[in-house]
Amino acid sequence: MELPPPPDIVRAAYAELTVTDLEASRRFWVDLLGFVVSSQTPDTLHLRGYDELIHQNLILRAGPVPGAARLAYRVRTPGDLDRAEAFFAALGTRTARLPAGVTPGVGETVRAEDPLGFTVEFFHHAHYAERLQQRYDLRRGAEPARMDHFNIVVPDVRAAYEHYTHLGFGLSETIEDEQELYAAWMFRKPTVHDVAFTGGEGPRLHHLGFFAHESHQVLRICDILGSLNQESQIERGPGRHGVSNAFYVYLRDPDGHRVEIYTSDYYTGDPGHPVLRWSVRDPRRRDFWGHPVVPSWYTEASTVLDLDGNPRPLLSEKQPAEIVVGADGFTR
Ligand SMILES: [Fe+2]
Repeated sequence: MELPPPPDIVRAAYAELTVTDLEASRRFWVDLLGFVVSSQTPDTLHLRGYDELIHQNLILRAGPVPGAARLAYRVRTPGDLDRAEAFFAALGTRTARLPAGVTPGVGETVRAEDPLGFTVEFFHHAHYAERLQQRYDLRRGAEPARMDHFNIVVPDVRAAYEHYTHLGFGLSETIEDEQELYAAWMFRKPTVHDVAFTGGEGPRLHHLGFFAHESHQVLRICDILGSLNQESQIERGPGRHGVSNAFYVYLRDPDGHRVEIYTSDYYTGDPGHPVLRWSVRDPRRRDFWGHPVVPSWYTEASTVLDLDGNPRPLLSEKQPAEIVVGADGFTR
């Protein structure tokens, strides 16, 4: 099928999660992790990192069930909203155009239920927020700087790779063998990724990755959670990834949504940037020090909501599971 030109996507910008206890979520995301509150209503919190100049990197909305309501990308020009609408309409997916003001801090948006089953949103216009980068006096917790990436669980990683290739994304790293693509990392901004795919029952949101500048910020949030006897919210890490070379930790919020604090990946902006391909049998691919990946990291993920806010049905995994084929500690 000949597709119309895709929108020129700049970067992953924000996500919306539904949460069942907004006060508990505020204690986790704001008081412990250290996100900045840009605005709030009785049933929402709009949060951003300390480097971020747009209104939000994360919207938390009180809802009946935990879910991933939307993944938002900024586009380069107002005309890219028209291109986004035409692109997804040509794919036969449901789209909606929402006026400025529906989401605080951004202009008109286009939403679509993408072919992978996720609700994605595109916006161009943004009201810039107060610059807080050098307000070191305000920083807390992991001192999150900005949104880095979305990691999504899809039943067919190759189909996800092809969809995002059509959207103009570059490929930085993969986990694969001779027969299968088990995971892929794709980018628009010149870093390792804006979106990554993990194979499994989907669509589900695996995690939101937020950038911190230094590895001590990853360690500090672990110490804080330990001090408060909330160590059970540390799911995996801290450690060094093989893929991306990033230093990381994965945490679970009060509803089980997974968040990664992520630092020190690398530049990918040159033309023809070479792809780094990891063997599914290399135990360093998920953790460079060979530490086992905990089973919950492979099996648990957040439900995705459609344009109406209803949970999406799950499709089972099409390719063999990476953990069965690969060399993870808990399968040894
Ligand atoms: Fe990640």
